[in-house]
Amino acid sequence: MNHKKIEFNMASRNFERNGYGARSQGGYDNGGGSRGQGCFKCGEHGHLSRECPKGGGGGRGGGFRGGRGGSRGGSFGGDRGGYGASGGKYSNDVGQNLKRPEWQNFELVPFKKNFYSPHTNIRDATPKDVERFRQMNEITIQRGSDIPNPITNFQEAGFPDYVMKEIRNQQFEKPTAIQAQGWSLALSGQNTVGIAQTGSGKTLAYLLPGIIHVNAQPYLERGDGPIVLCLAPTRELAQQIQEVAYSFGKASKLKSTCIFGGAPKGPQLRDLENGCEIVIATPGRLIDILEMGKINLRRCTYLVLDEADRMLDMGFEPQIRKVINQIRPDRQVLMWSATWPKEVRNLAEDFLQDYIHINIGAHGLHANHNILQIVDVCEEHEKEHKLGRLLEEIGCEPQNKILIFTETKRKADELTRLMRRDGYPAMCIHGDKQQKERDWVLGEFKRGSTTILVATDVAARGLDVDDVKFVVNYDYPNNSEDYIHRIGRTGRRNNTGTAYTFFTSANSPKAKDLVEVLSEAKQVVNPKLTEMVMCGGFNRNANKRYGGSSFGGRGGGGRGRGGGRGGGYGRW
Ligand SMILES: Nc1ncnc2c1ncn2[C@@H]1O[C@H](COP(=O)(O)OP(=O)(O)OP(=O)(O)O)[C@@H](O)[C@H]1O
Ligand SMILES: [Mg+2]
Repeated sequence: MNHKKIEFNMASRNFERNGYGARSQGGYDNGGGSRGQGCFKCGEHGHLSRECPKGGGGGRGGGFRGGRGGSRGGSFGGDRGGYGASGGKYSNDVGQNLKRPEWQNFELVPFKKNFYSPHTNIRDATPKDVERFRQMNEITIQRGSDIPNPITNFQEAGFPDYVMKEIRNQQFEKPTAIQAQGWSLALSGQNTVGIAQTGSGKTLAYLLPGIIHVNAQPYLERGDGPIVLCLAPTRELAQQIQEVAYSFGKASKLKSTCIFGGAPKGPQLRDLENGCEIVIATPGRLIDILEMGKINLRRCTYLVLDEADRMLDMGFEPQIRKVINQIRPDRQVLMWSATWPKEVRNLAEDFLQDYIHINIGAHGLHANHNILQIVDVCEEHEKEHKLGRLLEEIGCEPQNKILIFTETKRKADELTRLMRRDGYPAMCIHGDKQQKERDWVLGEFKRGSTTILVATDVAARGLDVDDVKFVVNYDYPNNSEDYIHRIGRTGRRNNTGTAYTFFTSANSPKAKDLVEVLSEAKQVVNPKLTEMVMCGGFNRNANKRYGGSSFGGRGGGGRGRGGGRGGGYGRW
């Protein structure tokens, strides 16, 4: 067979400078078995996506309330119904010109991926000590064996100087639990799923090993693509990750860039042309640039999916599959999130093959315990008034940053306008805003120039804004995972925060999950919520009590929403 060789310039990078690279890894199994692509919708083999028996990607059922009337009533249908449309667009069009490399025809030069070299104190710790540390930090191994010992402190982690310097700069005292166990896994070259609560430092759990991974590889040559690729679901999150990559990578002169939609391609292409070891990307723009032939992933050996459950749900999965097909099969893959619903687990295995799954804290859906969760069971028409009252209490303190989530772009605009009219410094971001404006508004919120940010789910995941004291769920999110992520914008690091949630009878199918989340976090559970659960989340007879009268026009539409998660791309 005529093998094409992916050549690395093995001589050029200084393996010693990071303090890790000296060990020889021997031959890695390059086979990896490039698997058939399977159906884009369900991932299974044997049928095409358009014949998929699981359907999916279709419309979510319209029927959005005919109820409220007046100037604010009317149809949100356009905003909300984007699921079918995005499913179509993203599963069929994007990346259709991308050819999947026949990896068996390539001779894949082995690469190093095991750099775990902690101090002997950590390496030689007794199994009992390790067990005790894991218990104290609520670290559980959900899958896999022969797990390397966790790193218990920075000094004994064996990090190179350029990493330690930045850790000191940031004044971090010790690794968080996900970092302690995640680093040892990522550094030892294992495919990993790491699940830990919001605000617990997952970004560095994958970026620091990524930086060490890059520094042990040969230098990029002209035309080479990135060595580390990190995919994220939103443009804002991708940019945030790149800022962290920049601060920790600059000391070792690593170049990173962020590839995301809504911004001009020119500067992004220029960065790529100049060579970037680390690329953070949103999938759509990355595929675009892959199709243009301006980036290739032949050098990529370290792949991260941040917010992995979102990346694997129906809105993104076809794109993720297209990207991953471009990466050599023996890559290291790491997936991170605060939530890991059953629906994505099988699919994740498609991309991970052999992997370790670690979990911090409770095993089911759980929220950050530093957040006080208050749920107000109310009627739809009461929300505006209730928000007004809440803002009177919390909205006037200049140091109180408040993040308010709505379900639709239209509602976000409308609330912002109302708040501004009443003199509150509110701004909003959502998917219909120009990216420039989105970036500027988020910057203002970060700087504290505006203290109230209204947002759709574009801001639900990953964003790390210092000092968000309150999260308000004006509309309850589409699925329980998003509830965890949204409220997780507060209570980050070891800070505390408060989440207020308006919960109406339309949300009753999600009451059970919510009660479980509240109970797990030892929060007071609103008796009305418990009652909804006892009515089976369907609440047929209790409609009046929970405001059924104002939902007369909803019919089956509202209930239908309970089943589906994810997607909703067009809505944001
Ligand atoms: N070891 C540490 N000690 C203290 N703070 C840390 C440590 N590691 C990271 N941080 C800080 O914690 C904050 C949250 O980190 P990060 O954004 O990575 O959380 P996350 O787990 O990814 O959250 P999310 O699930 O919301 O994405 C950041 O400001 C980060 O700088
Ligand atoms: Mg994160």
